[in-house]
Amino acid sequence: MTLQIKSLEQYNDVYKRSIEDPEGFWAEQGETFKWRKKWDKTLEWDFRKPDIKWFLGGKLNITENCLDRHLETRGDQVAIIWEPNNPDAPVKKYTYKELHAEVCKAANGLKAMGIGKGDRVCFYMPMVPELAIGILACARVGAIHSVVFAGFSATALADRIKDATCKVVICSDYNNRGAKNIPVKTVVDEAMTMGCDSIETVLVHRNTGGVVEWNSDLDQWWHEVIDNQSTDCEAEEMDAEDMLFILYTSGSTGKPKGVVHTCGGYMVYTTFSFKNVFQYNDGDIYWCTADIGWITGHSYIVYGPLAAGATTIMFEGIPTYPDAGRFWQVCEKHKVNQFYTAPTAIRALMAKGDQYVEGHDLSDLKTLGSVGEPINEEAWSWYNKKIGKGNCPIVDTWWQTETGGILITPLPNITDTKPCYASYPMPGIQPVLLDSDGNLVEGNNVEGLLAVKFPWPSMLRTTYGDHQRCKNTYFAMFDNHYFTGDGARRDEDGRYRIIGRVDDVINVSGHRMGTAEVENAINEHPNVVESAVVGYPHDIKGQGIYAYVIINQVVEDVDAFRKEVIKVVRREIGPIAKPDIIQIVSGLPKTRSGKIMRRILRKVASSDTSNLGDVSTLLNPEVVQEIIDNALV
Ligand code: PRX
Repeated sequence: MTLQIKSLEQYNDVYKRSIEDPEGFWAEQGETFKWRKKWDKTLEWDFRKPDIKWFLGGKLNITENCLDRHLETRGDQVAIIWEPNNPDAPVKKYTYKELHAEVCKAANGLKAMGIGKGDRVCFYMPMVPELAIGILACARVGAIHSVVFAGFSATALADRIKDATCKVVICSDYNNRGAKNIPVKTVVDEAMTMGCDSIETVLVHRNTGGVVEWNSDLDQWWHEVIDNQSTDCEAEEMDAEDMLFILYTSGSTGKPKGVVHTCGGYMVYTTFSFKNVFQYNDGDIYWCTADIGWITGHSYIVYGPLAAGATTIMFEGIPTYPDAGRFWQVCEKHKVNQFYTAPTAIRALMAKGDQYVEGHDLSDLKTLGSVGEPINEEAWSWYNKKIGKGNCPIVDTWWQTETGGILITPLPNITDTKPCYASYPMPGIQPVLLDSDGNLVEGNNVEGLLAVKFPWPSMLRTTYGDHQRCKNTYFAMFDNHYFTGDGARRDEDGRYRIIGRVDDVINVSGHRMGTAEVENAINEHPNVVESAVVGYPHDIKGQGIYAYVIINQVVEDVDAFRKEVIKVVRREIGPIAKPDIIQIVSGLPKTRSGKIMRRILRKVASSDTSNLGDVSTLLNPEVVQEIIDNALV
């Protein structure tokens, strides 16, 4: 059984032990799983390469841990509750037995399509059960899944398919999202015209039954390939360090990179953190509102909860459909005990008014979670008071796509909670604050750059196809440390408060985006010469996107031009990256070496021009005043 910490004293003891003897500690956690062959060595690591290996020589299949091993003890327990977009449509429930059967069928279907160990399979699907079933089926046959959030554009999808040379892409016909019926397959069809030569099959799940164009060279129906397959499928034996999945995420430079997670360590850490962070107990109903297109969905809708034998809810819809009470209606309907969502959703619902909460019975809630961005005090207090009724601890969980699991968080009813603070490190996690020269910032009541000095089992191993990039991005900034890209503060009691990114990454509604990526998209507009994108404080989204653009030819209709720019960004990345504000400028403030002074642009976008510092050394100091005078905030 996974260790579940129950008291502050125990947390302190376990934490101490996990730091003094990390290998012994994680070996004990590892032993609670089903291995085909036990590992020979618990850990080998060298951050300088980086080369990180956990449970070396261990053989397993993660789906035997998420499914098979529960069959005897909890085969008839519900594993997944699927709540549809339309509140009146039927809920689907899969027991562990049923889920096992569905995953085996899908795994046999993948095999029939020629998919096996090491092949890459891309998913571009809404939140339907087949997405969870599909990724587990990949893991069953040893294929590597790469889930692409279904809000990304055809261009973004094609880029990811090509980077991972996927053999198959699995999609739905349409996506039910609020009042919309969004075509999904047409996006895949378009991506297929963009040089995705590695794709042999487009497997289409019939979701809404809407009309789709059919390309008989590539397309096959999910139901035709999978429905008649056997419900038994021997799981492929995987090495602990074999790849489990790739998940693309944005950085400060270039195109999104494929973060790679491996089987053994990821399983151990996501299960351990799930059990402890949510204090999940048998019989509880757990709901994480994330999309499986992001890491939160991978680790805390699918793998962590299922490996822990939990009942996990998958929600197809959005928080505001049919109205802003939907989350609370679903909590009441399924008697949810642990609820995990993003600050942007909390802020949006808070703004709609308390009337949407009132009248819903939320008395089954025990723990509330927050993830993805800093949660401001007002939203924290509303969540605490209106949703938790003052007696559900809020776990403000800090982590990243790269960390695979939650690293810094309160533990409910064990450690205390404080608004805006992700608080304390999980067992086995050794965070440090560094100054920009890499010196350790010691003591409490200090600020610095957040790094981690010792490996943990679910950390990324590489970035797909480009190990050097992994090294440069995370391990080159500070010798022998993993650098997170975040700045943090440590308070007088040692709690961590995440301040935000210190690189050119912005966080819009909990979605992580590289400013360079958005700029590259904007620059595709034929009349744009150059652009600079920064984040600015936004009441609901946390950060909004502010774009400064230099144009080639004067435009008569500025609004029409803005619409065109937005259209280009939607085409290149997707609607989540569309700028909120577009300001046309005659120049961008640059240093003499030609580097854009984003610091100035960020200040203007935040309406904070009181202290711009010395701009006289810029190449073009005169543009600063022009930019301030025409600012749109
Ligand atoms: O800046 C931090 C912010 O989200 C970044 C990671 O984004 P992503 O890889 O998309 O993963 C999001 C879900 C795990 C971090 O570098 N972030 C995440 N959680 C928090 C947070 N910022 C403040 N508080 C958090 N709890």
